[in-house]
Parts: sequence; C-alpha cells; structure tokens
Amino acid sequence: MFDRVAPFYDLMNTLMTAGIDGRWRRAAIRAARLRRGDRALDVACGTGMLTRGAALVVGPDGAAVGIDASPRMLEHARRAGVPAGAAVPKYIEADALALPFGAASFEATTIGFGLRNMPDYAAALAEMARVAAPGGRVVVLEIAVPRAALARMLFVTWFRRGVPLIGRLLRRGAAYAYLPESVLGYPSPERVAELMAEAGLLDVRWRWLPTGMATLHVGRRPAG
Ligand SMILES: C[S@@+](CC[C@H](N)C(=O)[O-])C[C@H]1O[C@@H](n2cnc3c(N)ncnc32)[C@H](O)[C@@H]1O
Repeated sequence: MFDRVAPFYDLMNTLMTAGIDGRWRRAAIRAARLRRGDRALDVACGTGMLTRGAALVVGPDGAAVGIDASPRMLEHARRAGVPAGAAVPKYIEADALALPFGAASFEATTIGFGLRNMPDYAAALAEMARVAAPGGRVVVLEIAVPRAALARMLFVTWFRRGVPLIGRLLRRGAAYAYLPESVLGYPSPERVAELMAEAGLLDVRWRWLPTGMATLHVGRRPAG
C-alpha cells in the first residue's frame, strides 16, 4: 500500500495537515536531543523527511539511518537532496519489528506517523528501545484524535470524508480509506506512554502538538 502512495506521499501530508507537519517534525527532532557526531535511527522513515532533519543535527561526522518496509518510499527518500552540512542519510529496507542492528547502536531512535501502522505496537517500541544506546532517546510522533468535542468532530469528518475523497481523486482510494481507520484505531496518548514504559523506557513524557491533532512521546533508555 505504501509503495502505491509513495509518489504522492509528501504532497498528501502537506494537504492533510495544511503544512503543519513540518513544525511537528522539527519538534520531534528537538525532542531526540541529538548532538553533532551522534548516530540517529528513523524507523518507518517513508520518504525520509524526519531522517533528513536528524541528519542535519548530527552533521557530517554523525550518522542518520532510515529504515522502511516500502521500497518505493525508500526510492523517494534516496532521491531527495541532502541538506548542506548534514550527514548523508543511509536508507535500508527492513522491518520495524526486527531491526537489523545490534543493541545500543544509536543515540536516538525516532518514528514519525509510523507506529500506528505497526501490527504490534509493543514489539515495535521494544525494538526501538533495544537499539537505543544507554541514556538515548526514543521519540514517537503520531497523529491523534483531538479531545475537544468540536475539534474532534471536525477531525473525524475530515479523516472519514475529506481524506478518502482526495485519495480517490489521486486514484489511491484504498490507501486513503485505510488511513482514517489507522488513526481512529490508534491507542490513547496515555496508553502509548504506558506501552513505552512497558518497553523498558524511563521518564516517558508526552504532549499535544500545535492544533491538537498530533502527539509527541519521548522516553529514555536506562543508562547501563
Ligand atoms: C505514514 S508513513 C510515515 C513516513 C515518515 N516516517 C514520515 O514522517 O512521513 C508510514 C511508513 O511506515 C512504513 N511501515 C509500515 N509498516 C512497517 C514495518 N513493519 N516496518 C518498516 N516500515 C513500515 C510504511 O512503508 C510507510 O513508509
């Protein structure tokens, strides 16, 4: 399914979020607390938007790796330019539930709009925690259903009717009919925080991001 949406993925993101996703991604990168020379892993990287943000922070002496299960998404990621002064990202086809890296390989691991697509949220978080270095951060950025009644109603209407309509216009109806279900079926922010703690992460915190339709969760791999 993601292979089919790859050519329109970045455009659809901008249309669906009115461009605010860029701001959310920058918040996720800041939350990862990366430093120059660090190694960063972006899980379910898609077209690499978050990966390139991490690459810019770690710089040419660091490493930014993106993994994704969709070869077409990875093709688009590889074709995107590398920002000046950034590490050159490495993109690998892999399953988020079986990351091809040893324990403690990265100073931070991120996942943006990816966790809700996983068949097993706990297993995906456990893998991200496993490959994070001691003290390293695990960051989860995800769409979330707003809490306020009016915003919730508008959100559900938009995702149930507007998004599938755009999908049909792009002749990608099935993919954009799936999207609302993945968003509406995703656990509450409180439950995601619990899942992160159950994956062995410490100091798990979360917050709503501007517009109240995305959340940012951060946890830390125990030191030692
Ligand atoms: C909504 S996109 C998010 C892409 C990107 N992270 C972003 O910030 O826009 C979800 C991505 O998850 C990937 N994905 C779904 N299941 C996966 C799995 N088991 N392992 C790796 N990637 C997976 C899809 O191929 C897709 O690229």
